[in-house]
Amino acid sequence: MIGTRKDLLGLEDLSAEELVSILDTARTFREVLDRPIPKVPSLRGLTAANLFFEASTRTRLSFELAEKRLSADTVNFQTSGSSVSKGESLKDTARNIEAMGIHLVVIRHQASGAPHYLARNLDAGVINAGDGTHEHPTQGLLDIFTVRERRGKIAGLRVAIIGDIMHSRVARSNIWGLTKLGAAVTIAGPPTMMPAEVERFGVTVARSVDEAMEGADVVNILRIQLERQRGTLYPSLREYARVYGVTSERLKRAKPDVIVMHPGPMNRGVEIAQDVADGKHSVILEQVTNGVAVRMAVLYLLAGHKAQGEPPVENVPTEAKQTHGEPSLHPRR
Ligand code: CP
Repeated sequence: MIGTRKDLLGLEDLSAEELVSILDTARTFREVLDRPIPKVPSLRGLTAANLFFEASTRTRLSFELAEKRLSADTVNFQTSGSSVSKGESLKDTARNIEAMGIHLVVIRHQASGAPHYLARNLDAGVINAGDGTHEHPTQGLLDIFTVRERRGKIAGLRVAIIGDIMHSRVARSNIWGLTKLGAAVTIAGPPTMMPAEVERFGVTVARSVDEAMEGADVVNILRIQLERQRGTLYPSLREYARVYGVTSERLKRAKPDVIVMHPGPMNRGVEIAQDVADGKHSVILEQVTNGVAVRMAVLYLLAGHKAQGEPPVENVPTEAKQTHGEPSLHPRR
């Protein structure tokens, strides 16, 4: 089934088998990144366009690096300085980009569903790099990959996701992926930042951060998405930190070997205390490193079959080679 997709739009519509296939492929690319020359020719001859209609540091750099590590050509687009500022539509922008011979489009957009719209209208493979409050699938994948590398499994783990759940596309992708792979997910945060009927996502809603933290193997802390909030959803940042901030004191309720995650950018001293962000349980920078390998896996699985010829044997990760020619994540037309 993974071989019948052309796009990665979210984790909601992926099966557990597809998720595992991506995670396994990412592991082989993670090994590539530790080589003296961390580059393979898997996407030689292909061109990827990175369209970022919203600000990004990690995701944009990580995709560009992943594309370069796979020997693809890359072009980058940011709203400022583009003809979008003159009123050009998303569809016209994308059509013009595709007319230049682009094989893969990575898009971040403030509107939920923008990547789906492009996927329907472009022959190029489309990867969602974050759409509104909907999904951020490669962030979800890199979070799950980091947990799996640290714990050796996902099934049976207790994962606490803390913070602004309502506005978080990272939370949604994590919840879909983790629950499909058998983790028990508990969420906590201000009632004003909880989506209605959130239990239908298959999670437990804790009454407090302390309750969510109890016995957790993993604590994933979310940024307050100030840019997506209409009106004030909590009294003050100081009050938020007092009631919902993850401190080392609160962390004592989790398992002794708990891992602490944050997708970035962090509001230090608000949702996460300084000593937790930089402490012994933190794997926050490991998430960033793993993100490159995960994005290499997604790019490879979606477009490896379009690349020019088979890559040299010595440069191909074994498991990636096995999936070559039969991968990917959204129905190809
Ligand atoms: N995690 C994440 O999406 O970070 P950026 O906004 O910097 O890409």
